[in-house]
Amino acid sequence: MTNAQIDLIDTVARDAPVFRVPVTVVDVLDDDERADLRIEIKRLLVQENAVLVAHYYTDPDLQSLAEETGGYVSDSLDMARFGHEHSAQTVVVAGVRFMGETAKILNPEKRVLMPDLGAECSLDLGCPPAEFSAFCDLHPDRTVVVYANTSAAVKARADWMVTSGSALDVVRHLISKGQKILWAPDRYLGDYIRAQTGADMLLWNSACIVHEEFKGRELATLRAVHPDAKVLVHPESPPSVIAQADVVSSTTGLITAVRTLPARKFIVATDRGIFYKMQQAAPDKLLIEAPTAGDSATCHSCARCPWMAMNGLRKLAAVLRTGANEVQVSPALGARAIVPISRLLEFSAGRQQVILGNNDA
Ligand code: 13P
Ligand code: SF4
Repeated sequence: MTNAQIDLIDTVARDAPVFRVPVTVVDVLDDDERADLRIEIKRLLVQENAVLVAHYYTDPDLQSLAEETGGYVSDSLDMARFGHEHSAQTVVVAGVRFMGETAKILNPEKRVLMPDLGAECSLDLGCPPAEFSAFCDLHPDRTVVVYANTSAAVKARADWMVTSGSALDVVRHLISKGQKILWAPDRYLGDYIRAQTGADMLLWNSACIVHEEFKGRELATLRAVHPDAKVLVHPESPPSVIAQADVVSSTTGLITAVRTLPARKFIVATDRGIFYKMQQAAPDKLLIEAPTAGDSATCHSCARCPWMAMNGLRKLAAVLRTGANEVQVSPALGARAIVPISRLLEFSAGRQQVILGNNDA
């Protein structure tokens, strides 16, 4: 065990919660059914004044449909931003439930649909609102910062929401204000942010079941086979994997790295749904999946989020036909949960203006 791992275990707050992980099920479609469904979905999106917003981890069928229909494919922060700014009356979120909830919180007047409302996230499931609220009550001196991958009820208890693409900046901002942080739910991301910033952070104990499976020892072996490859890692991964990264970043940041770095080969430690966009961004580059198996494997994820995989063409067509699977967030809860989300959107918009200003100068 590395020093980083020992430190992490010493400083997390509590036992990790237990929950059920679904078996990964993907639609098997023949070419005719796929083509028919795509035509029908395109027609229904227009008829319903709806826009499709998809996460990078969803099936390429959904990502390409979003692109072809004026929708959007992105990370969790940008999905929320896009759904908020788009004029469509219905936002269809292909992703996991917290993404649908965030869209609904930001757009209470819009109809938000999801192909499958059972598409959860282990980080969200690992942070039950009542327990989390009790934990916050024990630490009233700390600013509560929660990752986007949480329920509306957990966000309602938070001061700030962050995403993997914004967490470092927000925490540095809070340090500059002299604040101590209570962080939830991802202990690996929290530990990474703490190591990078030196912030005083108390960590909730939960993890992403997909990224947690990446293996440090086997990654080192793979790097030895491909010494010319750059290693790209999402910060939900364990410290032994992060320690070997050339780039640690959000999903959008990892795609940018493939496009902009001069290397020809990349070992990628995140859900392999992202390969669709990476290949689009850099068709001539070689992408290699980081290992989730090996001597120390308990592989139940194999770099594929079983909840993201619940999104498929058949379910998408069905919700557009019937209006089923509407995301509901009560107005009272939404009014509380929007506070940390808006804080992040305003903060990141402000930073973008600063960056643009600097470029203009
Ligand atoms: P991003 O915000 O980087 O898209 O991450 C969301 C997520 O669920 C990663 O597992
Ligand atoms: Fe949650 Fe991990 Fe799936 Fe992302 S990949 S939605 S963090 S379980």
